Amino acid sequence: MKEFFERQISFSLFKIVLTIAITIAVFSYGVIKYYSLNKNLTHTKEQFETTSQNLQSDIKKLETHLASTTTENIFLNDFLTVLKTRNTDYKNEIEDINLTVSKLKKLTSTDPELLQKYSKIYFLNENYIPEELSLIDTSFLFRKEKPEQIHSKVKPFLEMLMLAARADGIDISVVSGYRSFGTQSTLKSQYSVLYGTNGANRFSADQGYSEHQLGTTVDFTTKKNGVMFVGFDKSPAYSWLNENAHRFGFTLSYPASNKYYIFEPWHWRFVGVEFATKLHDENKHFNEQAERDINAYLIKLFD
Ligand code: DAL
Ligand code: ZN
Repeated sequence: MKEFFERQISFSLFKIVLTIAITIAVFSYGVIKYYSLNKNLTHTKEQFETTSQNLQSDIKKLETHLASTTTENIFLNDFLTVLKTRNTDYKNEIEDINLTVSKLKKLTSTDPELLQKYSKIYFLNENYIPEELSLIDTSFLFRKEKPEQIHSKVKPFLEMLMLAARADGIDISVVSGYRSFGTQSTLKSQYSVLYGTNGANRFSADQGYSEHQLGTTVDFTTKKNGVMFVGFDKSPAYSWLNENAHRFGFTLSYPASNKYYIFEPWHWRFVGVEFATKLHDENKHFNEQAERDINAYLIKLFD
């Protein structure tokens, strides 16, 4: 019995010791685990803080970079605007130059003699002939058997004038167009024989001084007034010319009381639509105009 109790006590002690040992072991394990976890946590926290600091530093760097890129972008945009403006300026300059070149080409291709004053003032030498002459259509001629020529570039204006006048019921024909230096010389000699030098000088130009040598001038007449133009100033044709010839670029060279020749209501010179219209509207005449003002119309002569 005593033995039994002693065994029981030993067993109980063994259980207690075992429990204490297990408890100590578990506790020790817990403490070790705690310290280990704590150490890991501290390490992770440090790593996190380092990473976080690095990231913040990177963000700052990126922000600085972004700010400088934005400034650079603004600068580039300004630069682009300057380049675009300069490009437009160059384009405009090139357009201006092209315009000037085409004006110069047009001007140099227009015979400057065509707007000179010849009436006893300037001289055309015997070699001067217009750049191109064309026959005037027979239907517009007073003498069908005598061919007459006109400057080729004036021809369409003359034809339009004739058609417009006839469409208005006006009897009108061309009696004389281009006259060469030689033809004018012969004519003047004939007139001088018939009317004397002084008489001929009142209505006929010396060779080299006639507007007819330019090929841009015509004498008109009607069936009634004939080649001597008798009473042409009273004709419906003359009234019509006064009102309409400017629309086709023609102007009266020798109005009443001009200082060069007698009144020649039949003699009309082509000076271009714009110039003829200005003279018509202001009731002025070609030979009274300053040379400087006349020259401005050369470039527009055939417009
Ligand atoms: N009848 C004009 C003046 C001329 O002969 O040209
Ligand atoms: Zn004439």
